[in-house]
Amino acid sequence: MSMFRTKSIEQSIADTDEPEYQLKKSLTALDLTVFGVGVVIGAGIFTLTGRVAHQMTGPAIVISFVVAALACALAAMCYAEFASTVPVSGSAYTFSYASLGELIAWIIGWDLILEMFLGASVVAQGWSAYLGVFLGKIGIAIPADIAYGGKVDVMSIVLILVLGGLVTLGIKESLRVNLVLVGIKLFIVLFVIVAGLMFVNPGNYTPFIPAAAATETTQGWTQPLIQWLTGAQPVAFGWGGVLAGAALVFFAYIGFDVVATTAEEAKNPQKDLPVGIIASLTICTILYCAVALVVTGMVPYDKLDPKAALANAFAAHGQAWMATLISAGAVAGLTTVVLTLMIGATRIIFAMSRDNLLPMGIAKVHPKYRTPWVITSIVTVVCAVTAGFTPIGVLEEMVNIGTLTAFVLVSIAVVVLRRKRPDLPRAFKVPGNPVLPILSAIICFYLTINLSLETWVRFLVWMAIGLVIYGLYGYRNSRLATGKAIRADMAEIMATGHAPRDE
Ligand code: ALA
Repeated sequence: MSMFRTKSIEQSIADTDEPEYQLKKSLTALDLTVFGVGVVIGAGIFTLTGRVAHQMTGPAIVISFVVAALACALAAMCYAEFASTVPVSGSAYTFSYASLGELIAWIIGWDLILEMFLGASVVAQGWSAYLGVFLGKIGIAIPADIAYGGKVDVMSIVLILVLGGLVTLGIKESLRVNLVLVGIKLFIVLFVIVAGLMFVNPGNYTPFIPAAAATETTQGWTQPLIQWLTGAQPVAFGWGGVLAGAALVFFAYIGFDVVATTAEEAKNPQKDLPVGIIASLTICTILYCAVALVVTGMVPYDKLDPKAALANAFAAHGQAWMATLISAGAVAGLTTVVLTLMIGATRIIFAMSRDNLLPMGIAKVHPKYRTPWVITSIVTVVCAVTAGFTPIGVLEEMVNIGTLTAFVLVSIAVVVLRRKRPDLPRAFKVPGNPVLPILSAIICFYLTINLSLETWVRFLVWMAIGLVIYGLYGYRNSRLATGKAIRADMAEIMATGHAPRDE
């Protein structure tokens, strides 16, 4: 059937193969690690930790972080193999086009759009939460209606508009700025751990896994799908809560897939990619577990502030200046995560319109700034509206389910591609194929069914909309369907974010 048509791997590579469009292979394992930590540490640890511990897990959130890290480690290996086999920018979408066919590529692309644009919106909300705390500490109060959690989150809208403007002007993710921001973020996280230790009361760790209990967060539509499927009494806490918590804090690790997609730019992908991925994953896991332990030790889990838990844990101990410092650091550190996710969203949509699965017209490049300004404007407006008007806590579950589904498909794709094209050179191979990729798919899928019933319903609606768009547009008009060649300037923008300059 034609929707299973695949773009050949040779074609994918040829699309970006002209020497002037090749990316410099300059990134070392250390660069990749810094990049990974910069993308990954964000709203997940700064805001979600407090809410999940408060509502779902208690101090056992540490175990949730370890479970989520395991799922990420396996999936990241699969991403790395894909990225090093099909070294074309454009993330899992491009990889799957080459192996699983157009329909699956569309689904993955559609999932990644969800991941990136909603991810940017969630982190913008987290940024706004910390900005509110910071301004409050220096005596400036934002009216509740237009603050984080109010009727309209104006601050997150402003942030997204400013960053959208920068992306349109063609801002490059400068390694130096990234390094500074990563430095600030790491300093703040380490500060929370070290300074927080002084205020830990071991009594707060008992019970470590609070007994399962029916709570308002696990009623009806908000109960995890797995509880609904098994007909069990819906509960939070207990082991069920720990697993549901893992599905939620998975958000904190999102961004690893971005590291894997830099395969084309790595000096020595076979060695550097796994080192970069595993190193940044290990660093984040250790930091997350330490922060979780310290924060749940500082404040009883049922008293944790679900909005800005890290800063307010210090405020609860009368350490106002520490709370101010942490919120200032969070505001700086979260900015880069929003920026990266917004750029990611424009790249993935660009990749899809390059293949004409979305109308090519939207991939138009600005005559002066040479950036895909139409797509950037769409992403900016959609993110701003979403972050500004969606109630907190609704979005991140959607980000997680979109990303986890993409991970499941990518893991399966590794096995499929090994069988279909054993001949392809692979700079990096997942060890223990097919066991490890299959395990990765199973764990990621298991996490999705620990997300809430309402998240599943929303996700299915999102997928249905995507399939209708594919059926009405991409299926008939894609470049593969119509047999047109792909333009080289599109390949360039895909790889660099900029159109080639007219020489
Ligand atoms: N992992 C990123 C965060 O926690 C998306 O903000």
